[in-house]
Amino acid sequence: MHLQLVPWLTAATLCVTLTGICSSSTLSTVSDADRIVSLPGQPKVCFSQYAGYITVHKKQQRDLFYYFAEAEADPRSKPLVLWLNGGPGCSSVGIGAFSEHGPFKPSGDVLRKNDYSWNKEANMLYLESPAGVGFSYSVNNSYYISVDDKMTAKDNLAFLRNWFKKFPEYKNRDLFITGESYAGHYVPQLAKLIVQSKLFNLKGIAIGNPLLEYNTDFNSRAEFLWSHGLISDATYKSFNTICNFSQIIRQRWSDALTPGCSHVLSEALREISNFVDGYDVTLDVCLSTVSSQSAVLNKPQETEKIDVCVPEETVKYLNRKEVQEALHARLVGISRWTTCSSVLKYEMQNLETPTVPILGELVKSGIHVLVYSGDQDAAIPFIGTRTIVNKLAKQLGLNTTVPYSVWFEERQVAGWTQVYGDKLSYATIRGASHEAPFSQPERSLVLFSSFLGGGPLPEGLLSESAVRNNHINITWS
Ligand SMILES: *[C@@H]1O[C@H](CO)[C@@H](O)[C@H](O)[C@H]1NC(C)=O
Ligand SMILES: *[C@@H]1O[C@H](CO)[C@@H](O)[C@H](O)[C@H]1NC(C)=O
Ligand SMILES: *[C@@H]1O[C@H](CO)[C@@H](O)[C@H](O)[C@H]1NC(C)=O
Ligand SMILES: *[C@@H]1O[C@H](CO)[C@@H](O)[C@H](O)[C@H]1NC(C)=O
Repeated sequence: MHLQLVPWLTAATLCVTLTGICSSSTLSTVSDADRIVSLPGQPKVCFSQYAGYITVHKKQQRDLFYYFAEAEADPRSKPLVLWLNGGPGCSSVGIGAFSEHGPFKPSGDVLRKNDYSWNKEANMLYLESPAGVGFSYSVNNSYYISVDDKMTAKDNLAFLRNWFKKFPEYKNRDLFITGESYAGHYVPQLAKLIVQSKLFNLKGIAIGNPLLEYNTDFNSRAEFLWSHGLISDATYKSFNTICNFSQIIRQRWSDALTPGCSHVLSEALREISNFVDGYDVTLDVCLSTVSSQSAVLNKPQETEKIDVCVPEETVKYLNRKEVQEALHARLVGISRWTTCSSVLKYEMQNLETPTVPILGELVKSGIHVLVYSGDQDAAIPFIGTRTIVNKLAKQLGLNTTVPYSVWFEERQVAGWTQVYGDKLSYATIRGASHEAPFSQPERSLVLFSSFLGGGPLPEGLLSESAVRNNHINITWS
């Protein structure tokens, strides 16, 4: 067994908490330059953080930025998890790490400890990808003119190869790749390259509210909006007879909405209003972005557990000079860090490429696949995702091993799940947004932890005994 408390550890890797002394596990000197001494305003913690660049193309000077938070305790025994946000063109550091499941969330001038951070369960690696996103860049900016899924997957693989050179102790660790939204493309595509190249120890992937199949995903928006009371019967009928969402999105890329589609869309937007977040139709919105006057009139409740303004706070935080210095980050070819890229031109045709077949290939090669949905998201609603996973299971000839049923966090229903065979699972997270851990951090952490444990949600979470005392007899009459 490795002795952790060795006297030659430097002060930076030693700290004292209420529970005693702890130490960092990563002693590699290659990664030392990327070690974060401390982030401005952060509380004292006992795990190591790293941030910096990994070159994916030397000649073109294309460097990808990462932030790595080792597990809070015993990092050597925990898996490595790569997290990717979508967009295409949005930042995994800004959204994933600082707004969803990283160790800290910005609040004013300081960082608050996130009680449900995913580095309680794993060593978390956040990558800003492709180049042009966040702090990642290409000095040859012709690269930005047209980036596609293939280029992104290739660079992500090159990133991992080179990252492991910096962190060799993680090379043979169990690896999981996770992400959400457009990462429904990035994650399976990268996983496929890893399986093909037989590199690394890939165990599973998890994707939340993922774009998997253009028509099914986007056209399920109308039913979701209608069934949640956000649009009228008449507008729902228009989506089904005059113009559907897949047409609207396609036309919007080419800046050419037909009058019919334009009419349906504007009716829907009027009904939904500007005061509802499409990424979580029940969550309050951050009022400073709606109007500063209403923020004064309607102070957020003191008891509100979710700070809905965290994404805005993150933009401010990551644009502070001293924060960028602490992160070893550079602004190359841009003057500000933005949540989603202002320079990247992504090949939007790629949105229409279905990635479900890749999920099938991964399941067949023994990789665990978890698809989950925050069930309050109107952007990529669970309605489409559930259909897609069901259809995939049928195509693969997988029998249901856990029938559609509730799962629990503490004594409340945290969502529904269905498991097909022993490698493919679907789960909803009840009351969660497009960025599920943003609005349901506890439930998301339970799901994440059970996913890393392998297989379906643990029996305990499904067992009747867990809620026997909490059982309600609803007659539905
Ligand atoms: C810059 O990148 C473009 C597109 O990738 C490439 O065609 C060009 O040769 C590169 N320029 C230089 C100077 O390397
Ligand atoms: C959306 O509309 C197009 C054009 O009318 C149609 O071809 C397509 O089948 C529709 N999709 C769905 C899922 O209704
Ligand atoms: C699935 O269930 C059917 C019917 O019970 C059974 O015949 C078949 O062998 C099962 N397939 C697998 C892969 O277990
Ligand atoms: C619910 O119904 C079951 C079966 O009818 C009964 O045994 C149980 O006591 C009921 N529980 C409550 C809380 O009413």
